[in-house]
Amino acid sequence: MILALETSCDDTCAAVVTAGGEVRANVVASQGLLHERYGGVVPEIASRHHLELVNPVVRAALQEAGCELAQIEAVAVTTRPGLIGALLVGVSSAKALAAGNRVPMVAVDHLQGHVAAAFLEPDPLEPPFLALIASGGHTMLTAVRDHRSHEILGQTLDDAAGEALDKAARLLGLGYPGGPAIERAAREGDSEAHSFPVAMSRGPGLDFSFSGLKTALVYVVREIEADELGSARADLAASFQAAVVAQLRAKVRRALKGGEWEALALGGGVAANGPLREALQDLCDERGVRLKLVAPELCTDNAAMIGSAARFGERVAYPGYLDWDATPR
Ligand code: KG4
Ligand code: ZN
Repeated sequence: MILALETSCDDTCAAVVTAGGEVRANVVASQGLLHERYGGVVPEIASRHHLELVNPVVRAALQEAGCELAQIEAVAVTTRPGLIGALLVGVSSAKALAAGNRVPMVAVDHLQGHVAAAFLEPDPLEPPFLALIASGGHTMLTAVRDHRSHEILGQTLDDAAGEALDKAARLLGLGYPGGPAIERAAREGDSEAHSFPVAMSRGPGLDFSFSGLKTALVYVVREIEADELGSARADLAASFQAAVVAQLRAKVRRALKGGEWEALALGGGVAANGPLREALQDLCDERGVRLKLVAPELCTDNAAMIGSAARFGERVAYPGYLDWDATPR
């Protein structure tokens, strides 16, 4: 059994995953509410709370899995990329747990973790496949040809999709994290009320861009009287979400066009978005491509995906990992 820790951003996560890819426990202590009033993650606050939460979260994961520390064969941890102070809390805790029990460690890249969520039971997806990873920090299309690595085919040139949704939600006074708030508000709105630009949809490559979309929203909101924003919010949220989904769909469509890929996996927090899932399901049905969706709690940051990646990563025996560092990129 692998014990995995993930603290790269504002969620303190621990999970227990079997060698066969079953998730025995997947505990997430979200700090979302603590950061809400700042409209985004405050790195120093995140680190301090990881420090308070990491031990209880690990304990809760072991308890949920019905597992003793002595049964853990390896400790996995996200070492990059992320907020440096936040990552260091996870790396230090994981080292202490591994060294105290004299078990090996596996260093995991957070993005490989998002990819590896597709390798988990039930119904794991086997490479090769195309993956769209869209989160608060990253938006990329990546080629997954084995269990250990992936090759980025295209990525955002500016903001990430989740970042754009978070900024839009902030502008609309919908709170943080923005993605779920926009999705909720959009249910009551008309996605055709405003036509926001779908950037990059005609460009030849697979890169994304979301900053122009955010600027377009700023201009629209500026024209709306403060007392009218309340009634305009749902339409703005729906139209903005539709533009984000349209761009992601257009790029996936282009990547599938060559016919190389028989399966597409979605990962990252934005992959929890209902309208995005529906749009990509339609696209995949159209093209006869299998769409692998994992549960929303495996899309947003979690440690089960880190444990999943660690099943295929290099195990480093004690004391080889004691000098491991975390890196922001
Ligand atoms: O993967 P994740 O949990 O953390 C990062 O690695 O960034 O992704 C968080 C991002 C946030 O921007 C959040 O607003 C977005 O994912 N998100 C969503 C939804 N749930 C989370 N975006 C759209 N719809 C959702 N339901
Ligand atoms: Zn993430």
